[in-house]
Amino acid sequence: MVKKISVKLLDLCAKKDSELNKNRRLDYLYDCYACDKENTSVEKFHDLVNNYYYKYAADLYTFPWDLTQYYHEIFKNLAPGCDVIDIGAGTGFSYKLIRDIGYEYNKYWFVEPSKDMSDRLDVDDPKLQIENGYIESCWDKLSFSNNKKIFIMNATLHHIIDLESFGAALRSNMNENDIFFLPYEPNNGYHLTLLGRFYKCVGFIAQPISSIKTIIRQSFFFKYYKKYVAKPNSNIPDDHLSKSLQDLIDDNIVKDGFTREMIYATTDYGVYDNWKGIKMPNEFNEGFYTLDNISKLLGLEIVYLKTYSYLHDEDYGFFKKRNMLDGFLRNNFNKSGAFLCIALKKNSLVAKV
Ligand SMILES: C[S@@+](CC[C@H](N)C(=O)[O-])C[C@H]1O[C@@H](n2cnc3c(N)ncnc32)[C@H](O)[C@@H]1O
Repeated sequence: MVKKISVKLLDLCAKKDSELNKNRRLDYLYDCYACDKENTSVEKFHDLVNNYYYKYAADLYTFPWDLTQYYHEIFKNLAPGCDVIDIGAGTGFSYKLIRDIGYEYNKYWFVEPSKDMSDRLDVDDPKLQIENGYIESCWDKLSFSNNKKIFIMNATLHHIIDLESFGAALRSNMNENDIFFLPYEPNNGYHLTLLGRFYKCVGFIAQPISSIKTIIRQSFFFKYYKKYVAKPNSNIPDDHLSKSLQDLIDDNIVKDGFTREMIYATTDYGVYDNWKGIKMPNEFNEGFYTLDNISKLLGLEIVYLKTYSYLHDEDYGFFKKRNMLDGFLRNNFNKSGAFLCIALKKNSLVAKV
């Protein structure tokens, strides 16, 4: 019986090892939708979906949030001369911000699997080293000096499939005072907070509106208007996903039934919201990181925590605009925003486990 992924699977850490799901959401998508399993491993399938996604997304990519305040808070306490290891460095959002705030690093490792993304950073910096590869295959290449290090992953932790193995590799490359900084990650427990529940309740307003929009879009007049009257618009939000999907189908990588939503769920893997609409058997859901289990999953100790964007929900842009109220909530409820900004350190007790 196929069931929707249920919220209770969020408490991954509450389960004993023997109870943990061996199957992953990725395995399910691979089992159902990979065309050529004989020649394509599940890892290769994941890599292909990523490549087809970034082929189009790299052009449009901009990081939409101003995180200057959070980078300042972390970097003001950091002596100059650290090595920066930017994992999933993308088009250089963190790189540019760190340069703008004037931090003097010893060396900047720019780890980014997609060359389409890293090629967007065109700078001349002798201290910068770009590594095009997944972090899982880069640890050996990164030969760090004995300097203090700051590992940064902006909007990338949720791309990692196996967080426990990632945490183990990270810990073995960290010294006790090194920092692991996650400026922006979705707070997967957000929908369980009071605000998250409130948005769920007002969903009954959003649902009919979206049904009406769908009916209009499917009407003959609308299609006629789009085809012959309206100007072509290549910037419509999901256009790049449609192009990636078409290429994945044309190149026989995915079978019929694979959707744009599934592309996004595969790339931005650890985001609870991305999987909400994808039906799959429960035993294929290995769970999601949350604020409660992230420290244990990574084997690191949280030393700094902020959450932000309280009035956040894609469907309710109206609330998003109310920044004053958002600021008030941010200062008073530091665990319930839709996004996390955290820094972690190696705790010798945790690290020995
Ligand atoms: C949402 S983008 C964020 C990019 C950048 N950090 C920024 O702030 O704009 C996520 C990036 O992580 C990269 N990525 C995905 N999986 C990765 C992995 N296993 N190791 C390193 N980078 C990864 C993707 O290629 C992508 O560029």
